[in-house]
Amino acid sequence: MIQRYPPINPRFPHFLHGGDYNPDQWPEEVWAEDMRLMKLANCNAMSVGIFAWARLEPEEGRYDFSWLDRVMDLLAENGAYAVLATPSGARPAWLSQKYPEVLRVRSDRGRNLHGIRHNHCMTSPVYRQKTQAINRALAERYKDHPALLVWHISNEYNGECHCDLCQAAFRNWLKKKYDNDLDKLNKAWWTSFWSHTYTDWEQIESPSPIGEPILHGLNLDWKRYSNDQTIDFFLNEIQPLRELTPNVPVTTNFMGLFPGLNYPKFAQYVDVVSWDNYPVWHTTGSDWRLAAQVSFIHDQNRSMKGGKPFMLMESTPSNTNWQPIPKLKRPGMHKLSSLQAVAHGSDTVQYFQWRKSRGSAEKFHGAVVDHVGHEHTRVFKDVSELGAILRQLDPVIGTTVHPDVAIYLDWENRWAIEDMQALGRDRRNYTDTVIAHYLPFWKRGIPVDVIAEEAEISQYKLVIVPMLYMLKPGVAERIRAFVKNGGTLVMTYWSGIVDENDLCFLGGWPGNGLREVLGIWDEETDTITPEERNRVLPVPGNELGLSGGFEARDYFALIHAEGARVLATFGNDFYAGRPALTVNDFGKGQAYYVASRNDEAFMDSFFGKLAERLDLLRALPAELPEGVTAQLRSDGQNRFIFVMNFNPAPATVDLGAASYRSLLSGQSVTGPLGLPAYGVEILQA
Ligand code: GLA
Ligand code: ZN
Repeated sequence: MIQRYPPINPRFPHFLHGGDYNPDQWPEEVWAEDMRLMKLANCNAMSVGIFAWARLEPEEGRYDFSWLDRVMDLLAENGAYAVLATPSGARPAWLSQKYPEVLRVRSDRGRNLHGIRHNHCMTSPVYRQKTQAINRALAERYKDHPALLVWHISNEYNGECHCDLCQAAFRNWLKKKYDNDLDKLNKAWWTSFWSHTYTDWEQIESPSPIGEPILHGLNLDWKRYSNDQTIDFFLNEIQPLRELTPNVPVTTNFMGLFPGLNYPKFAQYVDVVSWDNYPVWHTTGSDWRLAAQVSFIHDQNRSMKGGKPFMLMESTPSNTNWQPIPKLKRPGMHKLSSLQAVAHGSDTVQYFQWRKSRGSAEKFHGAVVDHVGHEHTRVFKDVSELGAILRQLDPVIGTTVHPDVAIYLDWENRWAIEDMQALGRDRRNYTDTVIAHYLPFWKRGIPVDVIAEEAEISQYKLVIVPMLYMLKPGVAERIRAFVKNGGTLVMTYWSGIVDENDLCFLGGWPGNGLREVLGIWDEETDTITPEERNRVLPVPGNELGLSGGFEARDYFALIHAEGARVLATFGNDFYAGRPALTVNDFGKGQAYYVASRNDEAFMDSFFGKLAERLDLLRALPAELPEGVTAQLRSDGQNRFIFVMNFNPAPATVDLGAASYRSLLSGQSVTGPLGLPAYGVEILQA
């Protein structure tokens, strides 16, 4: 059966290719030239109006849409579409001047001056009213415009505000959460510690370096509140759009692993997920390792809506000026990194920026059209070639992947881990640890979903739980049912320690019944110095067939096997001989516990064995050389396999006797597949 998601907007069932377009920065004479170049670049979608508020409403209440009318008309006349933005990301100066309440107050309680962007209070009634009013005017004006394809809400929402309005909103949020019962809040935050007991809601203040910075429950709820308040601000923004343009999808551009917002929660409120991707290519010593991290984030973006294709809203066509080393993309990398997004589920390739601005902070940021102003540049050629490729990829639109493997990455867990005082200061490395568990699958071309604690997991064969310190309600129950019904679980050290309020589980870790599922008790955890190492030694004849020895660092859970079988033990220190890796049969499934932070060799062998045993879905039944991955998209019948070489040197993948059709050349492909440096092939099977 053929199963596809509909295109992002069914009015345009093709890949979107284009970028942030700021005609408001340029005289009108340039616009006609933009249209000519846009066609030459094989672009079809432009994000307009993102920071154009000052031009759209030059003085309070006086809108000037005349220029945007002409831009929208030009796009439509030239067969292109607008990803039309709401302008709340940056305010006009008159607005800050007249209504200082719209400006943010920092945690030290000082109010910011007008300036930069993303500098507004999410609570301010005036700001909410002004943004909603201009959004309504935009929607009224363009609701029937043929160019309107997608709404781009604000830009990269981020940050928090500590003004009095926000303090009041926070207290209301808390009252709702704790049923108006201050005692409940005091218990959840364990305020009996250091005499922190609150006796009046008005005593509660947001975390502050000049006040209360280390009450974990407060910090956690403040982050949750700020997240919810941002979503609420977004909902206020889109209200007129929902009313006037119910068929135009709404998105807001996320920022990958940005810590400040709980994206999986936010994602529930957008029609399509989109994100901005700026890897520091060619500067880390290994592009393929960096590529694996980028793949991980793409997968995370796809997973937030259960596999629904997403949008690569921003990427650079050449370099990114604000990075420490703004290196140019080497030949091949533009095509490769753009198709990498597609490989993981993006139905668009979009850029920041279309035309390099002439002044201010982003005048040296990569763009499709450089200051020289014509199309005869290396970057323009790369973009145009990519556009031609995307045109051939219509069959890929709406396809997805249903991996056998899921890895947890949970934002609230991350907040709690980063805030706790344990495991030393600089080496908690939660997200890096999660990615280290993803890498062995990337190397083998095994698709992976990256999920939050709230996700359903019954559809997977293997669920990996690295450092899941905080177990929110329902998670332990879902994990338990998953293993009981035949699933394979891998859980690591420093998991199952606290509940959703950051209160420790009593009665032995991992808490909430997981001790029984894993058949172990985690008695205490040792943190060693960055230089120290220990050994993980497979037990001779262990059932997984692990051999040799591995290196471990940082953290060591001193566990007791309570029914679990010991597959490896520690080699050194006072816990030499104690279990380092265990497996427990629980119901029809198996639960592994990894007690230490292990090296890549361990990850490769351990997950390699599991991948074989569980016969996990692979994109391609072939050995992949180092630095090469394969990723899959399918509609249930047609399979599109993206084979990508992130090495600066050629690589070969042996396809054996199987025969595929290249979606890029139309030729049939079999036997050894040669990939140039930074080369990519799309095989159809
Ligand atoms: C972010 C913003 C863009 C632009 C780019 C530059 O992603 O959304 O407006 O500033 O960075 O890389
Ligand atoms: Zn505020």
